[in-house]
Amino acid sequence: MDKIVIEGGRPLEGEIRISGAKNSALPIIAATLLCPGTHIIHNVPELRDIRTMLKLMETLGVSWERREANTLVINSDAVTEFEASYDLVKTMRASVLVLGPLLSRLGRARVSLPGGCAIGARPIDFHMQGFQKLGAQLELEQGYVDARVSGKLRGGTIYFDIPSVTATENILMAAVLAEGATIIKNAAREPEIANLIDMLTRMGAKIEGRNRDKLTIHGVKSLEPCETVVIPDRIETGTYLVAVGAAGGDVTLTNCRPAHLPSMFEKLRNCGLFLEEGKDSIRVIRSGPLKNVDVKTMPYPGFPTDLQAQLMTLMTLTDGLSVIHENIFENRFMHVAELKRMGADIMVDGGRAIVKGHGKLNGAPVMATDLRASASLVIAGLAAMGTTEISRVYHLDRGYDDLVGKLSGVGAKIRREKE
Ligand code: UD1
Repeated sequence: MDKIVIEGGRPLEGEIRISGAKNSALPIIAATLLCPGTHIIHNVPELRDIRTMLKLMETLGVSWERREANTLVINSDAVTEFEASYDLVKTMRASVLVLGPLLSRLGRARVSLPGGCAIGARPIDFHMQGFQKLGAQLELEQGYVDARVSGKLRGGTIYFDIPSVTATENILMAAVLAEGATIIKNAAREPEIANLIDMLTRMGAKIEGRNRDKLTIHGVKSLEPCETVVIPDRIETGTYLVAVGAAGGDVTLTNCRPAHLPSMFEKLRNCGLFLEEGKDSIRVIRSGPLKNVDVKTMPYPGFPTDLQAQLMTLMTLTDGLSVIHENIFENRFMHVAELKRMGADIMVDGGRAIVKGHGKLNGAPVMATDLRASASLVIAGLAAMGTTEISRVYHLDRGYDDLVGKLSGVGAKIRREKE
């Protein structure tokens, strides 16, 4: 197993190119199951989760190749299998995204229940209730959801208690070929969903309500493959913005979409960072001390839960008190114990963390526990005095394309070593 070693305390200077969004690429790859043909996807990041998704697609009968660095060519002529096994789903919950397209194309999908994960229980009941509303019969047996429909799925009205990102995507993919219209109320509005809607529309789907919480999908008879581009990763963008905030310096992020991070920008400016937004770039400068802010994670356009851990690290470096409410997942403070090993003063009380900033962190050996928690430890290592060693870095490989290369490129002293 590899570890990451960081010698902290060096400001970052230069340029970082942002990769395509993991959370967009995953549903877009799943959507290629909807119709036979050759699909072309640009700006696909090089990540472990993408490789897991492609492995799953292969088991369903799909073939693929990477053309140039970031273009994926997928052929889905021969989709014959309908089962996503526990071995794959347990390593990546987003595997459940094949349920909707398989049910739509083959009338059958058998997908292992993902179970809990490091950040909470994370059920898929919204997905299942949605498929039932579209006429599917669902059975739970031996840890698998077995969904079938005789004939075609039928349109229906679905209301989510909480706006769920992957449930919205799964129902969208199931509904595009259903008979009649489907309405999703309280749909999630994350930019990754708009990216999927754009792809489905290019394939011939009829969807109204892009970027709104009510989506209407008019089922069509058939779809055609298309060429699509994955949007830049807003969570990777936010992570590097915080990294510059923590370590200090002057960095320009390129190939990103500043418009996708409204709440993050507001918070970072209140922290005292200078941000200059271009159309597809953003310059971040930290020259003075950091100010404390309070944060509540919310569905988009609110503050993303996927940036909560990173922002918490930044708050440990202020000289004030900040209160961080985690409203999306019940167990997303795994990074707290590790940050405490680096000298942070944080108290957790249910879904709330109270951070007492002391202006500095000290390097220490720490352990990555989940994807975004790992990113918060890298940021802590960049800001800390001395050496930080982060073990179990396979979590970072799931979601950060060339993290060590990108940070080394802006002057960080960071390397990967065998443990
Ligand atoms: C997606 C993102 C993940 C991000 C999360 C919240 C992908 C591949 N992953 O995950 O990075 O952290 O959105 O922005 O896009 N819920 C239920 N029942 C369900 C589904 C969800 O109760 O059937 C609850 C969840 O437990 C959670 C909330 O709804 O409390 C939102 O979760 P959801 O948006 O579904 O997260 P994911 O789509 O799994």
